[in-house]
Amino acid sequence: MSAPASVHVRAPGKINLALKVGSVREDGYHPLATVFQAVSLYEDVVAEPADEISLSVTGRSADNVPTDSSNLAWRAARLLAEATGTDKGVHLRVTKGVPTAGGMGGGSADAAAALLACDLLWDTGLAREELGELAAELGADVPFALTGQTAVGTGRGDALTPALARGRFTWVLALSETGLSTPRVFEAWDAQNPGSTATPEVDPALMHALVQGDPHELARHLDNDLQPAAIHLRPDLQHVLDAFDQTPALAAIVSGSGPTVVALAAGPGDAAEIADAVTAAGVADETLVVTGPALGARLVEPVRAETD
Ligand code: C5P
Repeated sequence: MSAPASVHVRAPGKINLALKVGSVREDGYHPLATVFQAVSLYEDVVAEPADEISLSVTGRSADNVPTDSSNLAWRAARLLAEATGTDKGVHLRVTKGVPTAGGMGGGSADAAAALLACDLLWDTGLAREELGELAAELGADVPFALTGQTAVGTGRGDALTPALARGRFTWVLALSETGLSTPRVFEAWDAQNPGSTATPEVDPALMHALVQGDPHELARHLDNDLQPAAIHLRPDLQHVLDAFDQTPALAAIVSGSGPTVVALAAGPGDAAEIADAVTAAGVADETLVVTGPALGARLVEPVRAETD
């Protein structure tokens, strides 16, 4: 069979609807119980045959993204090549749609998309489960970018259980151009929670609200243990939360390790009004309206065979 000319895969960014944190483990990671939801902002990765691994990046804030072997998509291709013993290369063309350094998993989505795209390009025959294991080696959020939708993450956040969610939720995102370092946010949490012995657990009421598809009920249970740590490092995030308070938003929280703040709207009409109000308040660099859940990493264009 001839090799495909190129493979185009799309993977979503994510928000965290809940994030419960336990005391740091010996490996430096914190045990988590988190609820991820994939949202309608995407990373596109086109994989083209090449002798070596290389990468180019365009799209949203592309200038901030490394194009060398430190890029997570590059590392994904290298890991897959090592795991399968292939000597094939790939050129990865990444088009960014997820805000960078916002805690929305854009880099993780690149890695998930690169894994799936290279898997198809190189015809490795790996099972989706095996791709999931490689994804977890690349980063705690990478497995979720493969599966998408809504899921509970435990362990480092990488052990996923799909969650039932009815309907579609509308979110307003307040973005900040200046990123927050995830390790620093966890360190701030450590300082704020010395000797914590709590076992992280997601409130069953949140899972129930998702099953019901009820944004009003879901709003009551959005929860992020890292929010005080993120606000400690970035006090301006409190102004963003305060601005959402003055709008019809049902609730607003820092998403994951921040600095993105997400607010739940009752529906698309409210969302536009909320976004306008937060933009007018001048507290965010950009506001966006998105919906969730969104699909996980998937093939966009059919694989085109080269002429036989
Ligand atoms: O796995 P990932 O590269 O996304 O994690 C980045 C950093 O965030 C880790 O090195 C660690 O400092 C922190 N982290 C953590 N506990 C987690 C996930 C991430 O402490 N469950």
